Amino acid sequence: MADQIFQKVADLQAQIAQANPTTPEALEAFRIQYLGTKGAIKEVFKYFKEIPNERKKEFGQKMNALKEFANQHFEHLKSQIESAGEQQEGADLDLTAPGEPLPLGARHPVSLTLNRIIDIFKKLGFSIAEDREIEDDWHNFTAMNTPEDHPARDMQDTYYLRNSTEMLLRTHTSSVQARTMMRQKPPIRIIAPGRVYRNETISARSHAQFHQVEGLYVDKDVSFADLKQTLLFFAREMYGEKTKIRLRPSYFPFTEPSAEVDVTCFICDGDGCNICKYTGWVEILGCGMVDPAVLKNVGIDPDVYSGFAFGMGIERQAMLQYKINDIRLLFENDARFLKQFSSAF
Ligand code: PHE
Repeated sequence: MADQIFQKVADLQAQIAQANPTTPEALEAFRIQYLGTKGAIKEVFKYFKEIPNERKKEFGQKMNALKEFANQHFEHLKSQIESAGEQQEGADLDLTAPGEPLPLGARHPVSLTLNRIIDIFKKLGFSIAEDREIEDDWHNFTAMNTPEDHPARDMQDTYYLRNSTEMLLRTHTSSVQARTMMRQKPPIRIIAPGRVYRNETISARSHAQFHQVEGLYVDKDVSFADLKQTLLFFAREMYGEKTKIRLRPSYFPFTEPSAEVDVTCFICDGDGCNICKYTGWVEILGCGMVDPAVLKNVGIDPDVYSGFAFGMGIERQAMLQYKINDIRLLFENDARFLKQFSSAF
């Protein structure tokens, strides 16, 4: 009797070994038939009580081995069916099909304009200097020859930090000029791009925050002719070869002499249009020879060295270039506006 039961176990194992379901449904039927709670293996277990005691241990081992074998066979069949399914899915893939184009983002017009300005001054050997936006009064004003009570402070309405008469949001990147000159011996040839703040009423033409690029060149024998030549080069690179510049005397506390620079209107070539208000000229920047008092303040001997400086608003250049008529558009981050600009630069 026991031998017959042992034979059943062996037969069942052979049967399982031969089973070869190839679809998920057939596999599930296999699992129910052999491994299910009412499956063939469970059925054979029922003979346990009929096995004589001295062979019970042997029977238990055989049954465990059978269960183990059936489980392994099931896992093996399952992974075979799954990988066949994946290959089937892969067969539909056309590897020669062209890829989906990725939409390009857009750069902000202020960044596009700044990048152009930087590229032009790099050609002339200027390097980039950056520093803090929260400044102290000394670097923003006093070092730049604008001591307290100087009427020129009114030119740049200032945001002071709460409860402070000392710390402020920089009103120009001249503070970076001051910091660079304190740190570095001439020759110094830098441009200082960055965000600046002024307490102004926000309108289509002015904003309480904007960006500037200031330039500084300090060395022996730097002259006004060098300044003029540098600005002419910049204007021609920025607005086209035929551009002319015009310097009008002006006033800044930190430069002497000082000038404001106009370029021939690049929209109408000087004929007169609404961008240049029918004058043929567009103002683009302020400049001058660094005042000897500024050099003294930052520890550079004005008897040995001289320098020139200039400063321009980036938004203004961007508005001229892209014919944007409201500065607020540059700060609102409206995607419909921004996506009109390319990311080519
Ligand atoms: N700092 C000046 C401004 O913000 C610009 C400037 C810089 C003018 C350097 C002359 C020389 O208005």
